[in-house]
Amino acid sequence: MQASDIKRPQPTKQPESPIYTYIVGGVAVVAVLAAGWLGIQYQKHVREIAQMTAAAASAAQKYEAELAAASTTIATLHDEQETLKKNLNNLADDYADEKDRNEEFEDQIRQLSGTIGDLDKLAKTDKELLAKYSKVYFLNENYTPPRLKQIDDKYILAGKKDQYFDARAIEFLDDMIKDAARDDIDLKVVSAYRSFDEQSELKGQYTSVYGSGANAFSADQGYSEHQLGTTVDLTVASVGGTYTSFKDTEAYQWLLKNAYKYGFIESYPEGNSYYVFEPWHWRFVGTDLARDLHRDDANFYDWDQRKIDDYLINIFD
Ligand code: DAL
Ligand code: ZN
Repeated sequence: MQASDIKRPQPTKQPESPIYTYIVGGVAVVAVLAAGWLGIQYQKHVREIAQMTAAAASAAQKYEAELAAASTTIATLHDEQETLKKNLNNLADDYADEKDRNEEFEDQIRQLSGTIGDLDKLAKTDKELLAKYSKVYFLNENYTPPRLKQIDDKYILAGKKDQYFDARAIEFLDDMIKDAARDDIDLKVVSAYRSFDEQSELKGQYTSVYGSGANAFSADQGYSEHQLGTTVDLTVASVGGTYTSFKDTEAYQWLLKNAYKYGFIESYPEGNSYYVFEPWHWRFVGTDLARDLHRDDANFYDWDQRKIDDYLINIFD
C-alpha cells in the first residue's frame, strides 16, 4: 500500500467569526481613510511647495529686475559723476584763466596807478628845481618855493638874519649839518632862500661896490639858484662868510666827500664857466642825481638838461 493511498483526514473548514470580519473591515476602512488623509496632505504639500517655488521665482525675478535697475542707476550716476568731474575741471580751468586775467588786470591797474602817481608827483614838482640858471636861464621873477621852513637858529652863522629853505628838502640839510657836526665839522649857514627882490637888492649892493666885477660872483635877480629855496651858502665860524678861503678848510673837504649823500652838489667848482669858484655854494638836487654826478665826477652844469630832468620825479625821495 502506498502512502498516497492512505486517506488523510481533510481539515475541517471552520466558519469565519463575525468579529474578525468587523476588525478586518474596520482596519481596512481606517487604512483607506489614512491613505486618503495622507493623499490630501501630500497634495497640500505639493501645492505649498509649488506656491513657494512660484513665490521664490517671482522674488528672484523681482530681485533681478531691481538689480538691473540698480545697475542702470549706478551706470547713470557714474556717467553723471564723470560729467560733473569734467564740469569741475572746466570750472577750475575757467577759474585759473579768470584769475590770470584778474592778476594781469591788477598789474595794469597798478602800473596805471603808478603812472598816474608819477604824473601827479611830477605835476606837483616844479621843473625849475633841476633847471640850470646861472646867467643863461631866467627863472620867472614870480617864482617862489611852494613852502619854506626856517632853518634852525643854531645852524646860522652868528650875526646873520633868519634863513629859510624849501620845506621838502630841509631835512636833508639838517641831516648833513648834524652828521658833519658828529665829525667835528661845524657848518654854518650864511644865506639860503633869496627872493627875486632880495637878490635884486643884493646884486645892487655888490654892483655899487664892485661894478661889473660883481657879475663874477653874484647872479642877477631871476638867475640865482638861491631863489629856488634849495640852495645854501655854507661856511665855518673861523672863515666867517662866503670867502674863497673856505676851500682850505676841513669843512669843504668834508662836503666834497659827503654832501652828495644828502643830495647836495657844488654848483660852481673851480674852473666853471659861469662864476668864480664858490666852494661855499651848495645846491640840493636830490640824492639820486647827486650820487650819479659824484660817481661820474661830473658837474651839474655839464650834464644835458634832459638827462638831469629824469631825476626830477625822485628829487625829494
Ligand atoms: N653867488 C651865486 C652865483 C648867486 O648869486 O646865485
Ligand atoms: Zn650862493
